[in-house]
Amino acid sequence: MKGIILHGGHGTRLRPLTHTGPKQLLPIANKPMSQYCLESLKDAGITDIAIIIGGTGSNKVQEYYGNGERFGVKLTYISQDAPRGIAQAIRLCKEFVNGEKFVVFLGDNILKKSITEYIQRFKDSDASASILLCEVSNPTQFGIADIKDGVIKKIIEKPKDPPTNLAVTGIYLLTPTIFDIIDRLKPSWRNEYEITDALQMLLQEEYKIIYNMVTDYWKDTGTPQDIIHANQVILSDMKPYFEGKEEEDVIITGNVMIGSGTTIKNGSKLTGPVIIGKDCQIGPNANIGSNTSIGDNTKLSNCHIENSIIMSSCTIDGDFIIKDSIIAFNSEITRSSSPNKVFLLGEGTKISL
Ligand code: G1P
Repeated sequence: MKGIILHGGHGTRLRPLTHTGPKQLLPIANKPMSQYCLESLKDAGITDIAIIIGGTGSNKVQEYYGNGERFGVKLTYISQDAPRGIAQAIRLCKEFVNGEKFVVFLGDNILKKSITEYIQRFKDSDASASILLCEVSNPTQFGIADIKDGVIKKIIEKPKDPPTNLAVTGIYLLTPTIFDIIDRLKPSWRNEYEITDALQMLLQEEYKIIYNMVTDYWKDTGTPQDIIHANQVILSDMKPYFEGKEEEDVIITGNVMIGSGTTIKNGSKLTGPVIIGKDCQIGPNANIGSNTSIGDNTKLSNCHIENSIIMSSCTIDGDFIIKDSIIAFNSEITRSSSPNKVFLLGEGTKISL
């Protein structure tokens, strides 16, 4: 079976974080979120994978993943010239798929459980598609499946009046039948070719769609809050390691993952789960609270950081308390002796003082 990872789109709800690159490269526990999709496919034995790229900074995707060798997979890149929907992106993969069954993973979907068992069930079945459903509290925001007696009756995109709270997650197991269906689709109200409409057309034409319930963790990381939540969940599952150095007078509790070349300096306190990348300088007097991810080459001193993502090459120095925040690559926050506050803020920056 082949795999497809969708890596395009504008990520508007994540601005300003997405002004310079695709949202799927934003790190969760120091790894781009799309890498979790790639690893999930690889764990299920799928190593021939196409990545659909498009939009801002799509070259960064190729720079990071390369030919896939570093990740133990073979990658093909396919460009989508404009974000015209999931179904249109899938249609671009007809040649790549070459008549086989295949799996599509939306690069901003985080799924904790292995997909191996779902794939096996689909391989063994005569179904034209298989979807993973997950109960959600906000069903108007997703594709929703209406189910009666274990059979899917209808699939609707973001219904105003949802018949169930069963969201169609962004992991689709498909057969090449879908290509002929997509060719006959009409764009939706948001001017996209919707995968939900293609699935609904499959049902109407009496093709079989099976489903599995995801009872473990699944998240579509559309908003900053979703990313912070996914970060908590991934960190809580990580095994601790300490490859750096610590000075005296450092207090560490809970699970921490510390990369090589990182120094935890005097008077600092780490309360796990916390991940800190390589070559960081933490302290003096930094207090890093739980559910925090800190990227490579970052320097944090005299500050208190909690439940946050600080990406690589940042500097934070000063007696600030930073909670529930995402601070992107190369940012600097320092205290000045002048009473005037000095800001150099990119478009769409959010600050709450
Ligand atoms: C897309 C799909 C939707 C699905 C969701 C899962 O929504 O259209 O059916 O439930 O992904 O992440 P979008 O992120 O485009 O709003």
